[in-house]
Amino acid sequence: MQTLGNKKILLGITGGIAAYKSAELVRLLVKAGAEVRVVMTPSAQEFVQPLTYQALSGHRVYLDLFDAEADSAMDHIELARWCDLLLVAPATADFLGKLNAGYADNLLLTLCLASKQPVAVAPAMNQQMFANPSTREHIKQLAAKRVMLWGPAEGEQACGDVGPGRMLEAQQLFDNIRQHFSPGRLDGVKLLLTAGPTREAIDPVRYISNRSSGKMGYAIAEAAVRQGAGVTLVSGPVSLAPPQGVELVNVESAQQMYDAVMQRAGESDIFIACAAVSDYRVDQAAQQKIKKSSDSMSLQLVLNADILATVSALDQRPFCVGFAAETQDVEKYALGKLERKNLDMIAANQVGDGNGGFEVDFNQLEVFWHGGRHAIGQASKSEVAKQLIDLIAERYTCASS
Ligand code: PMT
Repeated sequence: MQTLGNKKILLGITGGIAAYKSAELVRLLVKAGAEVRVVMTPSAQEFVQPLTYQALSGHRVYLDLFDAEADSAMDHIELARWCDLLLVAPATADFLGKLNAGYADNLLLTLCLASKQPVAVAPAMNQQMFANPSTREHIKQLAAKRVMLWGPAEGEQACGDVGPGRMLEAQQLFDNIRQHFSPGRLDGVKLLLTAGPTREAIDPVRYISNRSSGKMGYAIAEAAVRQGAGVTLVSGPVSLAPPQGVELVNVESAQQMYDAVMQRAGESDIFIACAAVSDYRVDQAAQQKIKKSSDSMSLQLVLNADILATVSALDQRPFCVGFAAETQDVEKYALGKLERKNLDMIAANQVGDGNGGFEVDFNQLEVFWHGGRHAIGQASKSEVAKQLIDLIAERYTCASS
């Protein structure tokens, strides 16, 4: 079936061993009816010959900013305008850094700068390079600039290391492209989402909080928007830019989050509680800064209302998806919360063991519902969010049909 008929894909290839997978991607795209043009950086040509992509795409491969012969076919500005999607796969750490900094010292970087079309990158690098703070910072800033991050996957790498950094397989990238052009699975659905931590005041300068960065919740918001949902994101204090197209409601305390959610829950179709809400607050927060006066001090804490349980108890309740962050017995506690809070689904993550959860850029989830479960393997939070939203769309459609 020509699922990508008439779609124009500009595929950028940078210098990584995963370049061989992109040959298969070109084949899949052409078979699905897409028109593909390939651009290679000089170092990409050290890994795979341009002729490979030329044979598979049926078009000359673009190599050089000053290539007179290629320019006679289509000049680089024209090429940047021509495409419906620009995908760079593999995208090396070097390329991501330069893309983020706005460099234009090769044809591919120039095209990225010159294109108004959506840009996606499929990172491929050694796991240590992926974990490097500079790479993390570049990825974070690129995401804020609306560059779509596809992958990386986790697993054994060409260098022998094991960890996140492998480029997604050709079939996964192809599925992402197809999905990018498909009508959303949540078209017209109103989705309410909480994300980030809450802060419970002790006095005007101190508070109780937790390690939630908001990354998981913001990635879910973005994935839901891509699937056509109208997303309202009730967010605790985080330092992330809101995904485009999302209505953002900033809150600080659990009580403010409760109020913001309860105002909107009745008119929402789906509610996802990804925030790490403080279970307790200080009974009487001091009006003035507390002075150091003795060797010890006590704080009286009182229980906060459970936002998720309150929403799921509404008469006109949305489809409710909870999260469970556990350090042990993940399945047991998650299933307990699914029952106790009367949820439709719960996504459980093991936290505190370095495999995902709080603060980091990757995660893995075990998702449970009545009569079913599904594991989402370790990947970037945007990839995990995408898979979670697919699963929620599937379960939501089942529940409402
Ligand atoms: O933000 P990141 O750094 O990306 O980290 C992501 C995450 C680890 C915070 C996220 O994946 C996650 O697990 N969020 C839920 C954390 C949590 O508070 O879990 P819990 O087991 O304490 O709460 C269970 C559920 O009840 C959650 O859906 C929570 O949002 C909800 N809840 C809890 C207490 C409360 N008063 N109101 C609630 O709605």
